[in-house]
Amino acid sequence: MNKLEMKEHGTAGTLITFCGLDGCGKTTMIRMLTDALEANGTKLLLTKQPTDAVRTSNIFRTYTDTPDHDRYDYRSLSLFAASDRVQHVNKVILPALKAGKTVICDRYFYSCLANLLARGYLQDEWIYDVAKYIIKPDLAFFLDVPVETALKRVRAREEEKDKYIDITLQYRLRQYYRDIAEKNEGILLSTTESEKMTYSKIVAALGKIGRKNNDR
Ligand SMILES: Nc1ncnc2c1ncn2[C@@H]1O[C@H](COP(=O)(O)OP(=O)(O)OP(=O)(O)O)[C@@H](O)[C@H]1O
Ligand SMILES: [Mg+2]
Repeated sequence: MNKLEMKEHGTAGTLITFCGLDGCGKTTMIRMLTDALEANGTKLLLTKQPTDAVRTSNIFRTYTDTPDHDRYDYRSLSLFAASDRVQHVNKVILPALKAGKTVICDRYFYSCLANLLARGYLQDEWIYDVAKYIIKPDLAFFLDVPVETALKRVRAREEEKDKYIDITLQYRLRQYYRDIAEKNEGILLSTTESEKMTYSKIVAALGKIGRKNNDR
């Protein structure tokens, strides 16, 4: 795996991204962070990837909801999701950053890479080329839990108690997320501890970049 050579945004805004397995705690941490930032009057854009254009597509739904993907080529879905991220980054996130907003994104380009690798496409170089058109986050959090914990959390949701989940894939994804975080200056945080404890580490990381920005 190579490092992703993403572009710097060079704006007054701040981009914060969260990645990790389903059930790792992204939505929970984003909600706590959003509440705190809203309370102190920070101008915010809360957004997610992939966008609904991908989420509602047949190819995405087939991979997400069923074990039978024979009619589809995963590389096609990955390219589609990567394209969606280029559009979203440059036409949704970048304008908000230029307006000085703090942008919080639920999943990011790293998820595209993790999924591509976890499905065995280890030699695909195109993803590193596409990464050049993606903005490097100021803070990229990777929330990490054992697969069994993540599964329990997803299954605890009434609407997802019988959801199809490719469990073998989850093990591979977890390892790739950890590797991607390490190679790309991501911040790996365990969510096996209390929400309050994980959240305090997010606040501490934010404090550090706040100081860096003030020093400029
Ligand atoms: N330290 C922690 N950080 C975050 N969530 C935690 C933590 N400890 C326990 N949890 C619980 O784990 C669950 C995480 O669910 P959440 O919806 O936030 O995950 P998610 O990553 O957004 O999942 P999905 O990818 O399916 O949207 C919540 O029920 C939350 O209360
Ligand atoms: Mg979520």
